[in-house]
Amino acid sequence: MNNRILIVYASKYGCTEKAALLLQTKLNGAEVVNLRYAKVPELAAYDTVILGGSIYYGRIRKEMAAFTAKHKQELVEKRLGLFICAGMSGEKGEQELKQAYPDVIYNKAFAREVMGDEVYPDRISALDKWILRMVKGKEHKTGGGLALDKLERFALRMSAGG
Ligand SMILES: Cc1cc2nc3c(=O)[nH]c(=O)nc-3n(C[C@H](O)[C@H](O)[C@H](O)COP(=O)(O)O)c2cc1C
Repeated sequence: MNNRILIVYASKYGCTEKAALLLQTKLNGAEVVNLRYAKVPELAAYDTVILGGSIYYGRIRKEMAAFTAKHKQELVEKRLGLFICAGMSGEKGEQELKQAYPDVIYNKAFAREVMGDEVYPDRISALDKWILRMVKGKEHKTGGGLALDKLERFALRMSAGG
């Protein structure tokens, strides 16, 4: 079967973008759309849709929340992969992942992953830097890096048949 793949993402500083572009290199011929700038192509043309977004204050980026709310019906018909970039890992990260997407989409997903996070000191706003400093050191470990092993596992799962 011809498996056409679309990767749709929402990123504030570039971590999710990096993950989306890495996934694209591992998923031959996948197309990538940044929700902040690009028009989303007709979803009917794709068999597989991968959604990725970063977490701020416990929530996924608003562009992704709006996208999933708007296209829920069409999305549940696809072979779905979901991921987030987030400072939290383990149980907390899994909770954030579950809350990031509507239940019907979360439950339907074929693969789901918390991909880790990256912080870019030269890009981040002064306010965000300050907030990060306030929450850092508690349970909130940020900037640990993208989890490349998880990204690899996710890509393999999405490229496999089924
Ligand atoms: C102001 C601020 C708030 C954040 N809040 C959370 C949070 O609630 N939970 C979490 O897991 N990560 C949080 N993070 C970490 C981001 O999700 C992480 O840096 C991610 O890699 C950003 O991806 P992006 O560059 O694609 O936006 C926060 C980061 C900043 C700067």
